[in-house]
Amino acid sequence: MLFGIINTVLIVSAISGILAFLLVIADLVFANYGECKITINDKKEVKVEGGDSLLSTLNENKIFLASACGGRGSCGFCRCKVTAGAGPILPTEKPFLSPQDIKDDFRLACQVKVKEDIKIEIPEDIFNIKKFKAKVSQIKDLTHDIKELHLQLLEPQEIDFKAGQYVQLQSNKYAKIKKSVSRAYSISSSPDKNKEIELIIRKVPDGICTTWVHEYLQEGEEVNFTGPFGDFYIRDSKADMIFIAGGSGKAPIKSMIEYLSKHKTERRMVYIFGARARKDLYYTEHFQNLEKQFPDFTYLPILSRPTAQCNWNGKCGYAPNYFDEFIKDPKNTEAYLCGSPGMIDAVEKGLKKKGVSSENIYYDKFA
Ligand SMILES: Cc1cc2nc3c(=O)[nH]c(=O)nc-3n(C[C@H](O)[C@H](O)[C@H](O)COP(=O)(O)OP(=O)(O)OC[C@H]3O[C@@H](n4cnc5c(N)ncnc54)[C@H](O)[C@@H]3O)c2cc1C
Ligand code: FES
Repeated sequence: MLFGIINTVLIVSAISGILAFLLVIADLVFANYGECKITINDKKEVKVEGGDSLLSTLNENKIFLASACGGRGSCGFCRCKVTAGAGPILPTEKPFLSPQDIKDDFRLACQVKVKEDIKIEIPEDIFNIKKFKAKVSQIKDLTHDIKELHLQLLEPQEIDFKAGQYVQLQSNKYAKIKKSVSRAYSISSSPDKNKEIELIIRKVPDGICTTWVHEYLQEGEEVNFTGPFGDFYIRDSKADMIFIAGGSGKAPIKSMIEYLSKHKTERRMVYIFGARARKDLYYTEHFQNLEKQFPDFTYLPILSRPTAQCNWNGKCGYAPNYFDEFIKDPKNTEAYLCGSPGMIDAVEKGLKKKGVSSENIYYDKFA
C-alpha cells in the first residue's frame, strides 16, 4: 500500500518535472510576445519587445534600476512596484519580499518577464541614472588582492554623485566567460572630481567580474558602467561620526572623508579600518595625512590576526573593542559601515549595545 503511494507520488512528480522543463524549453524556443507596452508612474509609456526580463528591458530603454548581482536574483536590489502584467510571484523572489511588499505589488525586476503590457512605479530619481563609457586611465595595486581603477569619463564626460554611492560596472567577455556581467562597486574618489572616478576592487576567488578586473583588464581599455546608485551617503547634521570598514569597504568611506575634508567639516570623526594582517592595510599614510586637515579626526587601523612578520605595534582586535574609547556621545553619533555582511551585522550589534540609535546606523553590505 505504502509502496504504491510512494510510487504514484514519484511518477506524478517526474511527469510534472518533465512538463515544467518542456514548458521552459517551449517558452525559450517558440514564445513570441511581440510588442508590449511598459507604463511608468502612470505618465511615461515605452514600447518594447517582449520576452526578456523587466530589468533588462528597462536597461535597453536607458532606465537603470539598481541590480548589484547583475540580475541573478541574489541581491534583491532590483525591487520595484509592478501594478499590472507581472504574472505570479516566482519562488526566487519570495526571500526578498515581505508579506507587506507582496500586498504593495513589489517584485524583483530581474525575475519578472515582459510577456504582456506592464505597469510599474519607480522613484523619479531613477531617471537621473545614466550609462557611462569610460577609459581605464590607470590600474594600481593597493595590496596583494586589491586593485584601484581610475576611469576617465568619455561619454557623458561628467558624473554627479553623492560621496558613498556606487556604480554598476559591466565586465567584458574573457577566456571561458562568454557573457558580460554587471556588479556593484562603490566610488572611492570624491564627488569634487567629476571627470574621472576611482574604484577599489578586491579579488574574489573565481569571481567573474573581479577575475576580469585583476587578470584581464588593461590600462587604455574602454569600459561601461551605470550609476550612480544607492542611499549610503553622509547625512547633513552636526552629529559625531564613526566610520567602520574592512577590505574594499574602504572605498565609499574614502570618498566621504575626502569630500568632508574639501568642505571643511567641524564634526568629530573616527574611522576604524579593520584588516587581518599588515599586508591587508592600504592608504594608511593618506588617512594619517587627512587627520591633520580636520579639527577632530582619528584614523585607527586595527589588525585582527597580526603575525610575528607583521611587526605591528598598533591596535589589534575588532572595531567594537574600541567603542568605549571613541564613542563619546552615543545618542549624538552617526555610524557609517561598509564591508562584508558578517562584519556589518557584528558591528551594528555592538553599536546598538553602546547606545547608538538604529536610525543613525547607515551601511552598504558588499554581498
Ligand atoms: C552596494 C555594493 C557595493 C559594492 N562595492 C564594492 C567595492 O567597492 N569593492 C569591491 O571589491 N566589491 C564591492 N561590492 C561587491 C561586488 O559587487 C561583487 O559582489 C564582488 O566583486 C564579486 O563579484 P564577482 O563577479 O567577481 O564574483 P561572482 O562571480 O559574483 O561570485 C563568485 C563567488 O564568490 C562569492 N562571492 C561574491 N562576492 C563575494 C565577496 N565579496 N566575498 C567573498 N565571496 C564572494 C559568490 O557567492 C560566488 O560563489 C559591492 C557590493 C554591493 C552590493
Ligand atoms: S538584480 Fe539582484 S535580485 Fe534582481
